[in-house]
Amino acid sequence: MATLLHIDSAVFPEGSASRDITSVFVKSWLEQHPEGKVVYRDLAASPLPHLDVAAASAGAGHALRAELADELAAADAVLIGAPMYNFTIASTLKAWLDLVIINGHNAGENSPVAGTPFTVVASRGGSYAPGTPREDFEFVQNYLEKVLTGMFGVTDLEFIVPELTLAHTVPAMTELIPLAEASRAKAREDAEAKAKALASRLAA
Ligand SMILES: Cc1cc2nc3c(=O)[nH]c(=O)nc-3n(C[C@H](O)[C@H](O)[C@H](O)COP(=O)(O)O)c2cc1C
Repeated sequence: MATLLHIDSAVFPEGSASRDITSVFVKSWLEQHPEGKVVYRDLAASPLPHLDVAAASAGAGHALRAELADELAAADAVLIGAPMYNFTIASTLKAWLDLVIINGHNAGENSPVAGTPFTVVASRGGSYAPGTPREDFEFVQNYLEKVLTGMFGVTDLEFIVPELTLAHTVPAMTELIPLAEASRAKAREDAEAKAKALASRLAA
């Protein structure tokens, strides 16, 4: 029985592209793998505290950090909804990372998390794709790629990117609606296919 750790961090509970795509992923995962387990953390509804002196000093001896690290260690796959806020990830997701990354325990050499597949749904209002004017302002994919590979040595990391989500509400972006819709449709397809492939690989 494979376990999926599903984390959402979008502030809005409704109308969220990342929540939509992570839910497509979870549905497909469970269809493929009905006895699979999904552990869910909604970091917007139930935020974790910021790392403080006690937590930073105690490392794996801190109860909450140990709980989060155990939850991550028990996951066969991880799914993260990571909307872009002010060019980077939600502060709630950063709080989770600061607590769960424990050097010498689950991070650093021979990390037990290195082989865990991660899928990140990086939703964003604009486009930061290569060649776009704001390419250099992208600190969601760039950051998460660095932190997950640099701290845990993750080797299986895939980003699904529903972008231009503001096209429907920002008048200046109206002409981008077809691109936004194509991006959302592709993200849904990619999430469904990735979940199915992962679930069948892990169940085998
Ligand atoms: C506080 C805040 C800051 C945002 N900053 C950016 C930004 O820097 N770049 C961008 O493209 N979109 C930005 N957006 C738009 C969101 O990235 C967009 O609405 C995205 O779809 C949010 O993810 P969700 O749909 O999964 O909730 C911001 C939205 C909020 C609420």
